[in-house]
Amino acid sequence: MEDPRSPTPQERDKVVEFLDTQLRPNVSWSIAEEYPLAFSKDKIKNSKIITENSLPIAHAHMETLLIKTPLGLFKVAAIGSVVTHPQFRNKGLSQKILNQCLKEAKDQLCDFAILWTDLFDFYRKLDFELAGHEYSLKIPLSWKNKPLPENFRFLNSIKVKASEILKIYNTHRTGTLRTAKDIENFLKIPNTSLFTAWDKKTNQLLAYAVEGKGADLTNYIHEWGGKVSAFIPLLQFAQSHYSQSLTLIAPRHSENLIRQMSHNGADLHKGYLGMIRILHPQNIFFKMQRYARQLGYTDVICTCIEDKFVLGYKNDLVGISSLRSLTQILFGPLKLEEAVRIKPQTKEVLEKILPLPMWVWGWDSI
Ligand SMILES: CC(C)(COP(=O)(O)OP(=O)(O)OC[C@H]1O[C@@H](n2cnc3c(N)ncnc32)[C@H](O)[C@@H]1OP(=O)(O)O)[C@@H](O)C(=O)NCCC(=O)NCCS
Repeated sequence: MEDPRSPTPQERDKVVEFLDTQLRPNVSWSIAEEYPLAFSKDKIKNSKIITENSLPIAHAHMETLLIKTPLGLFKVAAIGSVVTHPQFRNKGLSQKILNQCLKEAKDQLCDFAILWTDLFDFYRKLDFELAGHEYSLKIPLSWKNKPLPENFRFLNSIKVKASEILKIYNTHRTGTLRTAKDIENFLKIPNTSLFTAWDKKTNQLLAYAVEGKGADLTNYIHEWGGKVSAFIPLLQFAQSHYSQSLTLIAPRHSENLIRQMSHNGADLHKGYLGMIRILHPQNIFFKMQRYARQLGYTDVICTCIEDKFVLGYKNDLVGISSLRSLTQILFGPLKLEEAVRIKPQTKEVLEKILPLPMWVWGWDSI
């Protein structure tokens, strides 16, 4: 058995076949169609495999994302499709592969790695922690019966120019840098529904909402954009196509939308963004301090001293020794004052920066 390595382009089909058998046994499409940017011949090098007799027996994929945020760009390693053949489990193969992914992500100067899983303890051993915020809003079925505004035209069709969607996507404050070509590929993912709202007079796209993504995110609106005034009626229109309630997933900072949906009866649930493993705390601290300075706070301290992470304001400093606690403090949901004693002024200033406004849209999860 060899060490983890990238597959060659010639091995791409074998890798996809392994993943289809292990992870998508009961669907009519290939996992490569679900993740069109991940498993193409030129991107397969971002996977890691362990083989035996020239066949993959363990796999993980790592995609590097550049995420725009109010604090600047974050380089993020999204990890997914982690699997070991049942005959080879509990021999440490997945941990080897994941450690290799983390090493490469660190070498590539990724700020952190993220993944989505329910095997929390398995990933905690590798210093991942549940962190960040994800708000889900369950749309009441009664929204179906609300009259739709006359000035909009609504469509349920994926035949929309990717460049139009990109224009609206780019108005988000936080999100992965994407091209129109990326969106064109995402729209071909099996089980994707696209709902759009248009201005009847100008024929301009005002809002969009995407439901479903292959085997995942059925009945979830995981990608969306547009002004709240057009987006909420669009959700009514989308809901009218389903017998079950749709759920919108949204960043915590979409405050206006969350408020208006809650006010109109949507059920709000607060969850985690994913499991996060910080890789370069100093780089994240640099962005935090730069952002604090932009807001007018020159004395925010965040740094590493010996084996501690030190956070604070002016001379009120606290040390945090665990990387996983730091992860929950930086990305939420843990508030610094819940973890350690700090002065009210320190709390007030750090609240301007934390939790870091971070969001990874559905199409980016791998
Ligand atoms: C989860 C999975 C990838 C682990 O692969 P593996 O090669 O057996 O993992 P390793 O041998 O490196 O690690 C095994 C360790 O994980 C633990 N583990 C395995 N499955 C687990 C589970 N479902 N929940 C919690 N811990 C688990 C084992 O107890 C073992 O812990 P130990 O080292 O303390 O004894 C494998 O079980 C698998 O392919 N499962 C099906 C696909 C899947 O669920 N993938 C994860 C998607 S995020």
